[in-house]
This record gives sequence, C-alpha cells and structure tokens, in this order.
Amino acid sequence: MNEPSLASAAAFRPRFDIGAQRLDCGREPHAATHRAAEERATWPLLDYSQCEPTEDQQAINLWLERAELDGGEVLHIGTGNSSVARLLAGRARVTSVTVAEGEWEHGRSLGIADYQVHLLNKHGLEFAERFRDRRFDCVLDNNLASFACCQRHLERYFETLAGLLSERGFVLTHWLGMQWTLDLGVDDVEPVWRLDAGKLRAIASAYGLTVERDGELFFLRRTGAAAS
Ligand SMILES: C[S@@+](CC[C@H](N)C(=O)[O-])C[C@H]1O[C@@H](n2cnc3c(N)ncnc32)[C@H](O)[C@@H]1O
Repeated sequence: MNEPSLASAAAFRPRFDIGAQRLDCGREPHAATHRAAEERATWPLLDYSQCEPTEDQQAINLWLERAELDGGEVLHIGTGNSSVARLLAGRARVTSVTVAEGEWEHGRSLGIADYQVHLLNKHGLEFAERFRDRRFDCVLDNNLASFACCQRHLERYFETLAGLLSERGFVLTHWLGMQWTLDLGVDDVEPVWRLDAGKLRAIASAYGLTVERDGELFFLRRTGAAAS
C-alpha cells in the first residue's frame, strides 16, 4: 500500500520542481499518519499540549501580540498548547488543526469563546473540504513542509491554503520550522522539504502567492495583494 498506484501517479502533474523524488506516496493522509514516528520519538513530537510553544511559535506569537487582527479569522495549523487561541482570545476567532489527540482534547477543554480545534491532517482531503466555505485573514503554520509525506499531498495543502485566504489574508511561517523535517527512521520526510527562501518562493509562486521576508518571519500573500 505504500507504493503509489499507477492511476494516481499518472494523474498528478507537479506544479513546481525543487528536486523531490517522492512525488506521490499513494496513501491518503489522515490524523494517525505520523503515529509510528511519534511512537519512535523519545521526546514530544506531535503532542505539545503540555509543552511550552517552540521557539518559532513563540516568535510568531510575539508578532501576533501587535498584529492588527481584531475581529479577524485566524487559522492555526499545529495547535500545540493552544497558545495562539489564548493569546488572541477576545480579539479574533481562532480555528486550529492538529493530528495530536492530546492537543485536540486539551484545546477543547479550555472553553475559550470563538475557538475551535479540529483533529485533521492538513494534507488530507478532509481538511480541504472542512473549511471550503470559510476565509481566513491569517494562517499560521511554523512547520509548512516539515511533515510532507510527498509532493502530491504537500501541493494539495498549498492549493487548499491559497483558496482559504481572504482578500487581505496571508500565511505566516518561520525560518526555524522551515528548516526542520521529520527524520526519525520511520515515515521520514525527504530532506528536500527543508525549506529556504528560494524553495518557499518556488512553491508559493506555483499557487499565486508572493513571499515577503521580515527577519525570520515569512509572509505569503496573494500576488498583487497589499501588505496590511
Ligand atoms: C512540534 S508540534 C508544534 C506545536 C506548536 N505549533 C508549536 O510550535 O509550539 C507539531 C504540531 O504540528 C501538528 N502537525 C504535524 N503534522 C500535521 C499534519 N499533517 N496536519 C496537521 N497538523 C500537523 C501537530 O499536531 C502539532 O500540533
């Protein structure tokens, strides 16, 4: 089942080429996809419900403190300990996505108004469908490609993201998370998905997005949209 079916491999036409070898893993991504890797890890890999936010998440949160997002819609990929929802409580409506059941349960237990947590794999069809009628002003993902099973499913994620942005919407990511990929000896991510600014631009432009850098923060906006 790990081999791509001929039908799906034939149907997939990559929109960009940064040198990935695994174009189509042939498996539909779901919330349990990374579980074997999580069991292999000797430190928290996916469930950060009881951890402090990572350094990159903290840098993003620092930026959020001053961001003009009041009354806006925020999508946070990688719930962690719900630091984003707690930070933006009363300011913005936050929707979060995680593959970790512990984060999902923890987030729901907080009882924060205007906060919803979804147990979903961002590479899956279910994610692409779930928010079809929603638009977000800000999408946060400090691990944009860190868990990419293959190019086909990463491209599905980017296509979904591009379609979810409101007119003024942007995706925000961070250099540290761009540089990290899953590498534990089980379901490893191809090293090509360790992103630099050039790779991020190549991927983003395939989906009509322009990348702006501000120190270690990277903003992806629809090409032609003005920065707010
Ligand atoms: C290392 S934790 C980081 C949590 C938080 N963003 C932070 O930086 O403190 C990785 C996060 O990415 C999420 N994640 C990993 N792969 C995912 C996927 N394919 N779809 C959705 N979420 C995913 C995990 O559920 C977890 O929330």
